[in-house]
Order: sequence, then structure tokens, then C-alpha cells
Amino acid sequence: MQKFIIMGGNRLSGEITLQGSKNSSLPIMAAALLAEGECVLKSCPLLTDVYSASRILNCLGCRCRLSSGNAIIDASDVSAFEIPKELMREMRSSIMFMGAILGRMGECIISIPGGCELGPRPIDMHLAALKKMGVDISDNGGIIHCRIPSGRANGAKISLSFPSVGTTENIILCAVTAEGETIINNAAREPEICDLCRFLRACGAEIKGDGESRIIINGVKKLHGCEYTIMPDRIAGATYLAMTAATGGEMILKNACIAEMEPFISVFEQTGCGIYAADNKIYIRKGARLRAIKDRIRTMPHPGFPTDAQAVLMSALIKADGTSVFEENIFDCRYRHTDALIKMGADIQVMGKIAVIRGVKKLHGADIEATDLRGGAAMAVAALSAEGTTHLGNISHIDRGYEKFENIVSSLGGRIQRE
Ligand code: UD1
Repeated sequence: MQKFIIMGGNRLSGEITLQGSKNSSLPIMAAALLAEGECVLKSCPLLTDVYSASRILNCLGCRCRLSSGNAIIDASDVSAFEIPKELMREMRSSIMFMGAILGRMGECIISIPGGCELGPRPIDMHLAALKKMGVDISDNGGIIHCRIPSGRANGAKISLSFPSVGTTENIILCAVTAEGETIINNAAREPEICDLCRFLRACGAEIKGDGESRIIINGVKKLHGCEYTIMPDRIAGATYLAMTAATGGEMILKNACIAEMEPFISVFEQTGCGIYAADNKIYIRKGARLRAIKDRIRTMPHPGFPTDAQAVLMSALIKADGTSVFEENIFDCRYRHTDALIKMGADIQVMGKIAVIRGVKKLHGADIEATDLRGGAAMAVAALSAEGTTHLGNISHIDRGYEKFENIVSSLGGRIQRE
């Protein structure tokens, strides 16, 4: 198992270019299944989750090639509708393929990805929505068989009890080639949903209202291929801003999605960092002292503060003056990184969905293990701002979401090695 050896204490400074978004790439790769022709996805990050998505596409009969920032997917000859258990297990987002396979083939067999790092991740909302669209679903010991008797789903009016990102994406994927109109009420408004819809429109889909709570999809018979550039990764962007603030550095983030990163930018302004955003670039410079955040940081569906950025922001606040309070409202088990941060000298108290961070003067290196993708990134942020050496194990989690992580950190002057 690989690990990072991180020698903390260097101020990070320099310029980096933000990678394409992981959380856009995965549903868009699934969506390419619906297009009868070649799709060229530019700025597709080379990550282990993207490789897993590529393996799923190939096993369904598509031709998917990944090379230097592009994914080229030809789904002209899709021949299968079953994702083997081993591939489902590689990546939790494999569930995103359900709506797309149904939209293309009218039938799909998948298995429920097992327990997760962030707590239970049920798919009840996905299944209930697809049922409304005329999909027959049976669950045989975790193997889910979905079938549309007529071969084509019907449009439906679906009101979500919570704006689930994955459920909204699965409904959209099934609805774009369904018969008639689908309306999603209380839809997720995350920027990655808009990116998926922009891609689908470029393939000929008819979708309105993405980015709002009510999305309306008019089913079309067929989609065609297209060339499309994936949006920048706002969570990776948040991570590099947190890293700069934590190490007292100065950085320019290029290819940044400023509007989409606004919830994060506004929180960072409150820490006393100088932060300026214009022309797809964000400049950040740590102020004389990093200040704790006065208001409770509540993770919420977009446009609220993203749960995916909770851990990395927490790492930046460990050495801030004063006390910051987080409230995690999206996942039940999203403070697993805090044990490692405490081992490094952080003062963090977790009580259910609340975490209280009292600023400390310094952190020290430690032997720690990444618990999940963003938690692992948060540990790297803390390690870079700590005195001494950290051995960070289980970094396959980090490789799921950050392209060339150690190269980027090194280019900013951070001392990091993969072993
Ligand atoms: C996506 C993101 C993930 C992010 C999350 C919330 C991708 C690949 N992943 O995950 O990085 O942290 O959005 O912004 O885009 N829920 C149910 N039943 C369901 C579906 C969801 O109870 O059928 C619950 C989940 O357990 C969770 C909450 O709803 O507590 C939010 O989940 P959801 O928005 O669906 O997140 P994901 O799509 O899994």
C-alpha cells in the first residue's frame, strides 16, 4: 500500500492549474453511454475513479480511451447491461450508470455498493424515482435487476424529499430518452448537475431549469456524440486554497470556477486571508494571522457550504486564532479524519454532527492513515503545515480525486514523496 511522506513547515507559493471535476466527469462518462456516436471529453482528470468508470464503459461494449486529459468514448455498439460486482465495488459512483444503462438498453443489472467511508449511503431515492418512470425493480440479495417492460421509460413528476445529487443525476440520465416530460421538484442544484445537463444538451437532449430546484426534461428518441470540456473541480480548488492558507503561503489558482467556488471563497475571506477572484483565476494570500470563523460552518446542499470541503477547511482552521464550529448536515459519518488531526496536535471535539475546533499554536508530524478521499486530503493539508514528518498511509483514497497530487504540492514548494 502506498503512502505519502510529508515534511511540513514550508510555505506553499506559486501558480497551479485546476484539474477537471471528478464529480462531473463520472456522471458525464455514464451519460456518454446514451450517445450513439463518439464523445470527446476534454479536461477529464486521470483519477482512479475515472479509470473505474472507463472499465465499466468498456465492459458494457463501449470503446473508452483515456489519454492526456481527454476521455474518448464511443458508445455506438453498447451490447451489455450488467455491471459485474467487482466493478461496482471499485467505485461508489457506479450507481450513476443505472439511469444511463436503462436509458440506452431498457434493462440493467447492478449490485449495491457496500458500506461506505461516510456512513450508510442508501439508494432508496434512486429506486423510488426510477419506479415512477415505469422501471420494474427486483433486489435479489443485493443484486438489483431493473427492467422497463416497454423498453422505454415514461416521463414522470418526481418530488425528492431531499435534493440528492446522485438521484437527480440518475433521473436526468433515464429521462433524457424517456417518452414524454419528466419534472424533478426539489432537485439538487450542484454545479456538477448543470455540467451534466450542458453535456447532454450538446448531445441533443432537451433539459431546462438545471441549477434551479425544478428541472424539466423532454425525452428525445436519440442522442448524438459531441465534444465537451468538463468544468473545473471546485473541491480540488478548495483543497489547494486551504493548503495555501494553512501553510501561510500565496497562490494563484488558474482555470478556477469562481461563481461555483463562492461558498468557499466567502468563508476564506472571514479568516483574514487576502483573496481576489477574476478572469477564471483566484489569488489567495494568508493574512498576518489566520482567524477562526465566527459563524457556525453548516454543510448544506448547493449553494450552501459543500460537505466535500468541510474536512480541508477544518485543517486550515486548526491553527487559527479562536474557535470554529462545524455542523455536518449531509453525511452521518464525515468526521473520521479528526482522529488523525488530533494525533497531530489539533484540539477538536466531535459531538454528533458538531465539531468544535479550538486553534492551537502548532501541529507535529505523525503516522496516520487516510480514512476517505476528502479526509485524506485534509490530513495532507495539516501535515504540510505541521512541524516534522508525517507518514500518511492509505493514499489510494486521495488518488480517487486528486490528479498528480504530489506533483502539484511539490510545484508549490511543499515537500512530499510517494513511497
Ligand atoms: C455526491 C457527490 C459527493 C458529495 C455529495 C453531497 C459525486 C460522485 N459524489 O454524492 O462527493 O459529497 O453528492 O454533495 O458526485 N441519500 C439517501 N437515499 C438516497 C440517496 C441519498 O438517503 O437514495 C442520502 C445520503 O445518504 C446522504 C444524502 O442523501 O446522506 C446526500 O446524498 P447525495 O446528495 O445523493 O450524495 P451522492 O450523490 O452520493
